[in-house]
Amino acid sequence: MNPLREAVLARLAASHAPLSGDRMAGELGISRAAVWKHIEALRQQGLDIASHPGQGYVLQSDVLQAGVLEAQLRGKRLGHPCRMLEQVDSTNLEAMRLAEGGAAEGLVLLAERQQHGRGRLGRSWHTAPQDTLAMSIILRPPLTPDKVPQLSLVAAVGVHDALSAFAPDVRIKWPNDLLHRGAKVAGILTEMWSEPGVVHAVITGIGVNVRRPEAGWPKDIAAIATDLSSAAGRKISRTEVAARVIECLEQAYLDFLSHGFAPIRQRWWQAHLASGQNVRVHDGREYIEGIAQSLDDDGALLLATAEGVRRIIAGDLEVLA
Ligand code: BTN
Repeated sequence: MNPLREAVLARLAASHAPLSGDRMAGELGISRAAVWKHIEALRQQGLDIASHPGQGYVLQSDVLQAGVLEAQLRGKRLGHPCRMLEQVDSTNLEAMRLAEGGAAEGLVLLAERQQHGRGRLGRSWHTAPQDTLAMSIILRPPLTPDKVPQLSLVAAVGVHDALSAFAPDVRIKWPNDLLHRGAKVAGILTEMWSEPGVVHAVITGIGVNVRRPEAGWPKDIAAIATDLSSAAGRKISRTEVAARVIECLEQAYLDFLSHGFAPIRQRWWQAHLASGQNVRVHDGREYIEGIAQSLDDDGALLLATAEGVRRIIAGDLEVLA
């Protein structure tokens, strides 16, 4: 983006009151007409900027800016740097390409639009511009590949901590969906680049429904999706969610690296919506019913069924009444 346009946008995003064209012109050393041209260009890009006669401009859209986000992070390990893309196929794919090109641990990649946002089990992920937080984090954990599945659960614990700060009823659904009162508010996709015995990088991709899109959810997810703002009862910005998610994820990741998987597993189990309950799991081939008994070391769910304990590596879980 043109640097002056970006500066106009940054001022609007940081202001809690209407900002006059005169003031921005003075601060940026340009004419009022030039400010107006940048405002019009931003509107053309789809941003909702209201004009209040005699007072100034108000940015109504939720704008996510990498620099603003990065400046809010208190942790040192993740989010330095943050990068924001207007459009990408998938932030996970792009983060993987960056990792393959040598990008260091901690890089956070965010995007306004994903043409092919990806979900678990080969599904797609809907990214609503301005309403969805779509981000991927490059990790380079000192782990062997067999331990990497644990990172999906570390991420679930971190994201759960973060979202719970906004809405207390958020629960994890095995393996790493985040639900609010039964509807999905966020999902996590963890992907690994490795060779036998060595992990080169892990990409942790997180999608959070921060607000309900004005046009509503696409039909296929309308019945199962919800958003954090509705759950919290206030309009939440993507910047505050991203900052909290990155910080909580960093905390969970560092705890895991220092103390191992046991404490994470315990926290995951406490936050899980069906611990000790009767559930049905579809593992891609069949439905299996039983009591969610515990979580194995690799994140597999241990189900106590009528035929004995079954280990389920991947699938979809529903809680039975
Ligand atoms: C799921 O619930 O199935 C996982 C969804 C993960 C979506 C996020 S959005 C950012 C990152 N980029 C992707 O393509 N997917 C993840």
